[in-house]
Amino acid sequence: MQTATSFATEPSTDISIDARTDISTEFDAAAILDALASHGYYRSPTPAPFAAFERLMASIASVKRPMELRTGGRNPVLESERGMTPHNDCNHYADCVAWYCRRADGAGDRTFITEIAEVISALSGDELDALAQIGIRLPLHEVARTRVVRREDDRVRVFWSFSAVQVPRSPERARLIELVQAFRSRVNEVGARARIQGGPIALDDGQFLIIDDHRFFHGRDPLPPGSRRHLFRCYLRLHDPRLRAAKLAFQPDHANQADRADRAE
Ligand SMILES: [Fe+2]
Repeated sequence: MQTATSFATEPSTDISIDARTDISTEFDAAAILDALASHGYYRSPTPAPFAAFERLMASIASVKRPMELRTGGRNPVLESERGMTPHNDCNHYADCVAWYCRRADGAGDRTFITEIAEVISALSGDELDALAQIGIRLPLHEVARTRVVRREDDRVRVFWSFSAVQVPRSPERARLIELVQAFRSRVNEVGARARIQGGPIALDDGQFLIIDDHRFFHGRDPLPPGSRRHLFRCYLRLHDPRLRAAKLAFQPDHANQADRADRAE
């Protein structure tokens, strides 16, 4: 299995963009944030210059970990032609993942998304608590460690990256391994269904895609052999605390109910 989470060769610097430029004639930032809040993702309908994309990103967010991703490049995971199963990138310190398509090269329709809520809807409160013991190690990130499940502001968050999982050594270890394997299976199963039902998201040259990493896992189909697709990718920590709060209000209903039931017992 491959996931997008090794990031072994990624730089850790933040991008520096002059955010003061007026972008009102290029993008409606408020409408894009509204779309993100209601749908959990946004794809630009038409091509735009990269500079306009940069200005838009800087106007709505702190931009983290900018990377150029060229299929066939040196990163053995991110720049390979292999597919990636559903995973998260950054929700332990940022809100969204954004990609700008510099060159589709006939392979710009490979990304698919999976609702995190659907994956965790079958989990009990006990299982969520157990998954909260499972560590995720991300040594090159701004925040280098998180957990599969965490509770913040009385809400459940999920971060999934199978290749980065760390199960603690404890008397419960065997049960935790079993649980994390079942979770992995469910992620891949629901992801495969979402891939079939929702299809991949197409990105042509000059289009961009933003996905709420709190709400969706993302993955990709394998790229064609010899593909030279070129994407720019970054993470977004939204500027506006109110918008961040609105986005983070997303909460799987079942998880809330399980939490409440647990507390009542
Ligand atoms: Fe990813």
